[in-house]
Amino acid sequence: MSQDEQKALVAREALKHVVEDAVVGVGSGSTVNHFIDALAAIKGRIEGAVAASEASAERLKKHGVRVFDLNAVDELPVYVDGADEITEHLHMVKGGGGALTREKIAAAVAKKFVCICDASKLVGVLGRFPLPVEVIPMARSHVGRELRKLGAHPQLRENYKTDNGNLILDCHGLTILDPPALEAELNNIAGVVTNGIFARRPADVLLLATPQGVQARPRKL
Ligand code: A5P
Repeated sequence: MSQDEQKALVAREALKHVVEDAVVGVGSGSTVNHFIDALAAIKGRIEGAVAASEASAERLKKHGVRVFDLNAVDELPVYVDGADEITEHLHMVKGGGGALTREKIAAAVAKKFVCICDASKLVGVLGRFPLPVEVIPMARSHVGRELRKLGAHPQLRENYKTDNGNLILDCHGLTILDPPALEAELNNIAGVVTNGIFARRPADVLLLATPQGVQARPRKL
């Protein structure tokens, strides 16, 4: 099974977690694109979706799925999203596609976070994938200096603006041994909007595609 076939398989599996007659939270990225395509087949059974990126919102609308502003929704029973890296504790690095801030907000609202990944995303320690940090433009240099003090090698994502009009610094060279602590520390730097560590609100269940099929891994408490 190719990596793309694995992504499509795990995306279809996530439909089992979607709550009927409710609004579903939808993340972003190539795995989520498969989820959106699968969701289209059951669009008559859901109220609609909240999207974590403009790109996902567009794709949902093209399929005729109603897209709600998060502020118009009282609750989000389920949020489905991919990850760039995930550990056994279901801590993640996200934001490879630049949508980390809206993804983190949607995840914060959701009762259940279902992460959908192919097996290449499962790691022992986070950090090999460069950690995205969303930054207010005027704080770019200041945040870069602070990140270097923490041992990171930040690189400005070239010719890129987030959906919120901000910049991304991709941090190379980190070995993230305590994800909740580093997540909080980075968010305390003035000018940081948020960073791509999702550990203080981890996923609740990981659906992991392997060549043998999909494994469901609930978070160990
Ligand atoms: C988007 O900003 C990211 O957080 C995605 O969830 C992540 O990059 C996974 O994307 P793929 O499914 O394309 O690997």
